[in-house]
Amino acid sequence: MTENYAIVRIQDNGPGVEENVLSKIFDPFFTTKPVGKGTGLGLSISYQIVREKHQGELICTSKLGEGTEFAIVLPQNIRCCKKD
Ligand SMILES: Nc1ncnc2c1ncn2[C@@H]1O[C@H](COP(=O)(O)OP(=O)(O)O)[C@@H](O)[C@H]1O
Ligand SMILES: [Mg+2]
Repeated sequence: MTENYAIVRIQDNGPGVEENVLSKIFDPFFTTKPVGKGTGLGLSISYQIVREKHQGELICTSKLGEGTEFAIVLPQNIRCCKKD
C-alpha cells in the first residue's frame, strides 16, 4: 500500500546541534540552556504529539555552524486522531 504524507520542514541558520546532543533532544527534560531558562519539554511534547497522535515522524537534521532543520512527516491516511 502506498501512503501519502504531508511534510512540513522548518529550518534555521542558528549554531546547529552537536552530534552527542542530537541523540537527546527529544528526551523529556533534556536542555542545554542554563538553569531557570530551558524546560527541555518543547521537543519531547512535539515528538509525542507527532508520533502518538498522528503516527508521524519528527526528524531533526543539523550541521554545526550552519543550522538545523526539523521535518514533521504526517501520514494523510490515518483513520482518526488518537484520543487519550
Ligand atoms: N533549533 C535548534 N538549534 C539548536 N539546538 C536546538 C534547537 N532546537 C532545540 N535544540 C536543542 O534541544 C534542546 C531541547 O529543546 P526543547 O525541548 O525545546 O527544550 P528547551 O528549549 O527548553 O531547552 C535545547 O536545549 C537545545 O539544546
Ligand atoms: Mg525549546
